[in-house]
Amino acid sequence: MSTGHRRLEPGKLVVASHNKGKIREINALVEPFGFEVVSAADLGLPEPEETGTTFEANAELKAVASAEASGYPALADDSGLVVDALDGDPGIYSARWAGEAKDFAMAMRNVEEALANADAHTPEQRTARFVAVLCLAWPDGHREFFRGEVEGRMVWPPRGDHGFGYDPAFLPDGFEKTFGEMTADEKHGWAQGEDNPLSHRARAFKLFADACLSE
Ligand code: IMP
Repeated sequence: MSTGHRRLEPGKLVVASHNKGKIREINALVEPFGFEVVSAADLGLPEPEETGTTFEANAELKAVASAEASGYPALADDSGLVVDALDGDPGIYSARWAGEAKDFAMAMRNVEEALANADAHTPEQRTARFVAVLCLAWPDGHREFFRGEVEGRMVWPPRGDHGFGYDPAFLPDGFEKTFGEMTADEKHGWAQGEDNPLSHRARAFKLFADACLSE
């Protein structure tokens, strides 16, 4: 059946990322489909500057740069934490809030300070979501986009040492554990079966898999 999307045939797939946490998660998502996954970091491809103003634009520029430089289809993820009381910050700047040293303890503290400055103290005032946009780009210029989101709220102090980035400060709606306290299977929602993805990345990935991959 045609979905209107271009199918991706098994073969080499470049994960257009230099972020170890993301590469690990994307590899785990894609490998069961029989791809030979290599990362932009493995190939020594440069990391393009993220000059876009949306998750879509940044995912696209990363995927297109890797597809053009490698000659293989490339999958990029642009993601971030969107906090309502902060007008959507850190948003597309989520990685940048951690500075050159990628210090997420500091980034979570900065979010907490900004929430305090915004007088956001109750759970209702501390709503947030993680957003992930996947862009799959082919060397011939074809592109596909998939967006996943997971709603939750910011908690303080951060809890747990699983995952990466802002995981310890994010409590997904309906759960008592932060993403930082969850195993990867729990964070992605696979503990409840593959048809019930939880994390933003697993939700975007399911849309991608349903549209473009065959098992
Ligand atoms: P970028 O997509 O490479 O610009 O960076 C996204 C940033 O968003 C990451 O460095 C993390 O700070 C944050 N982020 C995205 N997804 C997650 C997640 O699943 N858990 C925690 N932090 C995340």
